[in-house]
Amino acid sequence: VTVISSVIGRKIQIDQLSKTLSVGRNILIEGPVGVGKTFLISALLENLKRKFERIDGDSRYSEAKLTGWFDPPLVLKKGYTKDTFIDGPLVTAMRAGNVLFINELNRMPEAVQNILLPAMDEKRITLPKLGGVSAKKGFVVIATQNPREFTATHALSEALLDRFEMIRLDYQTRAEEIDIVRPKVGKTSDIERAVDLVRATRNHPLLKRGASVRAAIAIVELVSAGIEFEVACLMAMPSRIETISSEEDAESIITALLRSLVPPPAKKKDLKN
Ligand SMILES: Nc1ncnc2c1ncn2[C@@H]1O[C@H](COP(=O)(O)OP(=O)(O)O)[C@@H](O)[C@H]1O
Ligand SMILES: [Mg+2]
Repeated sequence: VTVISSVIGRKIQIDQLSKTLSVGRNILIEGPVGVGKTFLISALLENLKRKFERIDGDSRYSEAKLTGWFDPPLVLKKGYTKDTFIDGPLVTAMRAGNVLFINELNRMPEAVQNILLPAMDEKRITLPKLGGVSAKKGFVVIATQNPREFTATHALSEALLDRFEMIRLDYQTRAEEIDIVRPKVGKTSDIERAVDLVRATRNHPLLKRGASVRAAIAIVELVSAGIEFEVACLMAMPSRIETISSEEDAESIITALLRSLVPPPAKKKDLKN
């Protein structure tokens, strides 16, 4: 069983991920922003001592950037040969038998996603003027995607989904989220209040999108720098939540939540700190 000391909880997922990787299956991690996708995969690959090429998806990412490209000045001197081709992350990972870690794959243009198809199941791609590139044993793709962004990005094709095993990450428990925020220094009561506030935004009737533990980390860091708790919340929260309509104002929702959640100051718990 793989144990990763930097990761709070996620034991089942770590076990599932390591086993899936051990048989060379490609993995797609799905879950909301800030749920820990990037963190978990980076920690796991480091722990397993698997070398990886990481790329971050964006809509202007090109096919050549993924595979590699011919260097124009070199091509003028030597022509189109293996020596004048600069390997991109896909070719590098294939040749070395490493992991290709694609963060936010669904932000990639469809043409870029399509290049992955033969690489993922035939472990081979054919590039213009270069020819075939075969993957060494160990080559595998791990990708993440954020389901809330589907409308704004390129949903993965059926063909691409067919090449992935899927692991879903959901928000962690209150106790685990408190443990995640704890190392960021701060009073226990502030950490608990920050985590409770963040959690309350996730199924709030006036909010379309709630905040992740990342917001709680930000609040506690701001408070540790000397900013007052409520002010820190109003700095950290509005950019991380989305109201269901423009009639609603994020700041007043946060203020109301603080009133309802936060225990009045100077309770026994606070005096201890
Ligand atoms: N299980 C965990 N253990 C420790 N820290 C975590 C855990 N999950 C999330 N975090 C913290 O939350 C932050 C946000 O996670 P991240 O992986 O960036 O989210 P995502 O990629 O899903 O948007 C990380 O930088 C890390 O500090
Ligand atoms: Mg991420």
